[in-house]
Amino acid sequence: TTTVRVSPAVLGFSAVAHSLADVVVVPEGYSVTVMGRLGDPIVAGTAAYKNDGSDADFDKRIGDHGDALHFFGLSAANKPDRNISTRGLMVQNHENISEQYLHPNGPTPAPRPLAEAIKEIECHGVSVTEYIDNGSRKWSLVQGGALNRRITPNTPMAFSGPAAGSPFLVTAYGKDGKIGRGTINNCANGVTGWNTYLTCEENYAGYFRRDASDDAARTVAEIDSLKRNGITSRSGNNDWSTASATDDRITRWNATIKGATAADDFRYEPNQFGWVVEIDPYDPKSTPRKRTALGRFGHEGAFVRAVAGQKPAFYMGDDSRGEYLYKFVSAATWVEADADAADRLAIGDKYMDTGTLYVARFNADGTGTWMPLVYSPTFPKRAASGSYREYTFTSQADICVNTRFAADALGATPMDRPEWTAGNPATGEIYLTLTNSNNSFRPVTGTNAANPRSYNDPKGPSNSAQTGNPNGHIVRLREDGDTTSATTFKWDIYLFGADATDANPTNVNISGLTTANDFSSPDGAWFSRASNPAGQINPLLWIETDDGALTDRTNCMLLAAIPGHVGDGGAYTVNNAGNTQNTFVGAKATAANLRRFLVGPSQCEITGIDSTPDGRTLFVGIQHPGESGSVTAPGSNWPDTQSNASAAKTVRPRSSIVAITRNDGGVIGL
Ligand code: FEO
Ligand code: CA
Ligand code: CA
Ligand code: CA
Repeated sequence: TTTVRVSPAVLGFSAVAHSLADVVVVPEGYSVTVMGRLGDPIVAGTAAYKNDGSDADFDKRIGDHGDALHFFGLSAANKPDRNISTRGLMVQNHENISEQYLHPNGPTPAPRPLAEAIKEIECHGVSVTEYIDNGSRKWSLVQGGALNRRITPNTPMAFSGPAAGSPFLVTAYGKDGKIGRGTINNCANGVTGWNTYLTCEENYAGYFRRDASDDAARTVAEIDSLKRNGITSRSGNNDWSTASATDDRITRWNATIKGATAADDFRYEPNQFGWVVEIDPYDPKSTPRKRTALGRFGHEGAFVRAVAGQKPAFYMGDDSRGEYLYKFVSAATWVEADADAADRLAIGDKYMDTGTLYVARFNADGTGTWMPLVYSPTFPKRAASGSYREYTFTSQADICVNTRFAADALGATPMDRPEWTAGNPATGEIYLTLTNSNNSFRPVTGTNAANPRSYNDPKGPSNSAQTGNPNGHIVRLREDGDTTSATTFKWDIYLFGADATDANPTNVNISGLTTANDFSSPDGAWFSRASNPAGQINPLLWIETDDGALTDRTNCMLLAAIPGHVGDGGAYTVNNAGNTQNTFVGAKATAANLRRFLVGPSQCEITGIDSTPDGRTLFVGIQHPGESGSVTAPGSNWPDTQSNASAAKTVRPRSSIVAITRNDGGVIGL
């Protein structure tokens, strides 16, 4: 156990200005080291990455679009060590791909060559990679590390919890509904108190193809479920289903019903995704477990709070416009001895397979309610609305698979795209980034107290006007009684994203941002580790951004904040044109308590963050630099530009992790 002291009065670095340069910019006195990059080999005997589109074997290389990450300390005996800051396993999600840079001349149009599709599929998933500090925080990747591992969409998985073994999960591959293959579109993460990693399946829906003819073969409930979860594409991302009619690594991405006994009938394959997946990074032979008790939706992340005497809780956003915030509370109370158990996935069974899933309602008076998603014959039906028919639940497995419908039925509060959750280790307060929304989902007549803004941003993307909530905000909550199992809470809005030069600051720049700390579209959120060094670290909040309405003036960024507490601001009225919303806002941002720490290279997103336990190396993910460019005209040449400002304009960009260190060796941010 560690002591967490109160925060400092002022952040300890100079703010970084807006930047459109193709390089990672950090404050004076800090340095950037590029670590693992897309394609770097992690398995012994795999060739160096040529980065010309000819490389293959991505089941042995770092994948694309690195997203959330976590540093797991590694002892000399390759066992977990929470205190070591010089050797560790970096576990990172690989959310998606920049397809144009993965082949010699860009992707071949459909029908896709099988090898191209397999390469793209294997660029997704999770990597486990050993790193070592060779002295003075000079990090290097250990190719052939004993625990190095790629988990891809083809890696065998097991299902556990209420939906395991149910008809919803039966496929041609997993006929008992208890097994499946792989994980995809892994966005944010969670770290349990027992040395395992949670990877969260977000936008899985788009990879599936479903032909128009399929509707006639489906029940009404199935058609509505597919639509509510976004499985509506007729081609599937990247046209993978065109690459083979017989290889089931390909045919699985076409969910169209083929026939009950057909070898390529993957009608329920979409139900195999949208889960929180637990991985034991210290056992490369272990089979990851999909924890169905935590529900199925566009899982962004899963912040875990495990404290003595309480039941572990998992806070989870569903990132789509108008979706919800969820919490799962274990049935079992946390036992400290489980933190160091050898059979880590068995501990996961104990805390993650039995418990209660809740969805949040944010009331207009600053209170909130966690509503249980627990099946009984009287659980409300999901009423018909729009093109949806009435939906009747039949079991807890049904609620776990069709979680969005169940949350609809209880009247949960629709939010402006719930992204990461992060808990303040000193107070237990939970922060939720709400990245943005648009006018069709958040019209001026459709705001609520927790999502109070809908306005005309005169300088939206590319300086064209954008309506809705284009800059997003951050909500935070404090559980009543400060217990993880509370069913009520208090909330306020910690911070509103804004353009500091916006012409309408009264109702838009509510937090009082300046050009030294303005931001748009918050996404990643993370508190400094509580344990570094020897309990001295203060829990700074770090905020990462994903595109948004400022990208014509600055690339995406990382900010550091000294957060206050729920209720330290007051009531505020947002006067949207023709609609007034009373809300609760945190204290104003100041130059002392919110500063821009880093700006990334061209066309990147900043996502993924952790540090060593001593707080002296900060690891940050630079995702998809140059994502809008082409193979002949790359949109970025980073990371080559980091050390060579005159890098060739033709060199292909690569998602990479950077290590940020202080030149004096001090703790980052203080
Ligand atoms: Fe993958 Fe919601 O960001
Ligand atoms: Ca995200
Ligand atoms: Ca995002
Ligand atoms: Ca992205």
